[in-house]
This record gives sequence, structure tokens and C-alpha cells, in this order.
Amino acid sequence: MDIKEAVEKRHSVRQYLDRPIDDKIKKVLEEQIEKCNQKSHLNIQLIVNEPRAFQSRLAHYGQFQGVKNYIALIGKKNIPDLQEKCGYYGEQLVLLAQQLGLNTCWVALTYKKVPEVLHLDSDEKIVAVIAIGYGKNQGATRRSKDMKDVIETTGSVPQWFDEGVRFALLAPTAMNQQKFKFIFEQGKVKIKRGMGLYTKIDIGIVKYHFEIGAGKQHFQWDSEEDER
Ligand SMILES: Cc1cc2nc3c(=O)[nH]c(=O)nc-3n(C[C@H](O)[C@H](O)[C@H](O)COP(=O)(O)O)c2cc1C
Repeated sequence: MDIKEAVEKRHSVRQYLDRPIDDKIKKVLEEQIEKCNQKSHLNIQLIVNEPRAFQSRLAHYGQFQGVKNYIALIGKKNIPDLQEKCGYYGEQLVLLAQQLGLNTCWVALTYKKVPEVLHLDSDEKIVAVIAIGYGKNQGATRRSKDMKDVIETTGSVPQWFDEGVRFALLAPTAMNQQKFKFIFEQGKVKIKRGMGLYTKIDIGIVKYHFEIGAGKQHFQWDSEEDER
């Protein structure tokens, strides 16, 4: 499965089979985590066979079942753009997992921190986790905003821009809020972040999807704006 197919096939999955992640696949994931950590200076960790984080009332409320593995997105509190970085690199792991035949779900709220299994320095914090494993199902298609709702540019735009936005709309966002706008200006792409909980993480995720759809060679990012 190539990465574009992974974007199209991915949906959040909250119910998992009681099946450990195959050793070979675990190794591929761990290697990619290591690469992401080197590039980003984050401290992302794969936690396996640890059911407690998803046994709380909150997790049941979130309809999670059988989650025993997760990716913890951890970084130094003072890293600039910590949340966005977690989004950007976390989504790389989500799409790799999809390519490897696993399922995932981003979780910022409905899980419990289990300090014994996380290697967290005092100047670090956990931003979110990603539940990972063999899903009982493949998730479901959900509602999405239209392209016109998330593009602010008037006039013609290159085809790669449209394709980037289409891929951005397939990205997971917290509560499916999709609070972002894309602007095309003098060959550069700007993304405006809407107000709301976890939108900084969302922006990182959405940027990665846009790059896959548009092709990184076609454009540069212009500095981001927050909507006020
Ligand atoms: C940053 C972030 C945080 C999320 N937190 C939770 C959560 O706490 N509980 C939950 O059940 N789903 C959570 N989700 C999953 C979203 O609800 C889901 O991605 C969204 O509804 C879109 O559906 P899709 O992923 O199937 O495209 C989160 C997603 C993101 C991106």
C-alpha cells in the first residue's frame, strides 16, 4: 500500500483484537520512531502490552476497547511548536502503521497517563497518544468539510494545491473539527489555524497530509497564522 492509499484508507479505529503486534512490524515502527526523534528532537515512545491507559471510565466513554499498545508523543516543554511537531511526526507513524496493516486512533483526551511505563524527564511532557494495533474493524468514513470551506484564496490555483487540500481533508483532527484554512499566495502556501482545543496538533497532522497530496517539491510553507 503506498502512502496515498494509506491516507484514503485510514479511519480512526477504537476497538482492537487481542493480538500482539508482530515482531517484524514492531521493529519497523521502532526504527521509524527513532528517525522521527532524531529529526524532531521529540522523545516519541512505543508502548506495548500496556492495557491500563485505556481501562479508565474516560476511555470507555470514548468507546475504546482492547487497546494495549500506543505511541506516546513526548517532548521537551520548551521546544518551539511542540504540539505541531507531535502532530506532524505522529501522523507519519499513523500512516506507516496503516501501510503495515495496523490501525490507529489519535487520543488527546480519553486516556490515562501511566507514569511507570513512560520515560519522561522533568522538562518533558506528553502531548497525546496514538492507540495502535489490529483493529476489529477498519473504521468508518465520516463527515468532512468541503474544499471551498477550507480555501481562502480566490482565483485559480494549481492542481497540486487542490490535491493537497483534498488530502488535508482526509486528515484526522480532534473531534473532527477541521479548523484550518489554506491560502495560496505567490507560489507559497499558508495555513491558518482556527480557535479550539488541540488545533495546534491538528495543524501538524494536516500539514503532513497536504505535503503528501500536493508534493513537497511544488511549494514552500509560508509562516502560519492564527485566526482571531
Ligand atoms: C489531536 C487529536 C486528538 C484526538 N483525541 C481523541 C480522543 O481523546 N478520543 C477519541 O475518541 N478520539 C480522539 N481523536 C480522534 C478524532 O475524533 C478523529 O480523528 C476524527 O473524528 C476524524 O475521524 P477519522 O480519524 O476517522 O478521520 C483525536 C484526533 C486528533 C487528531
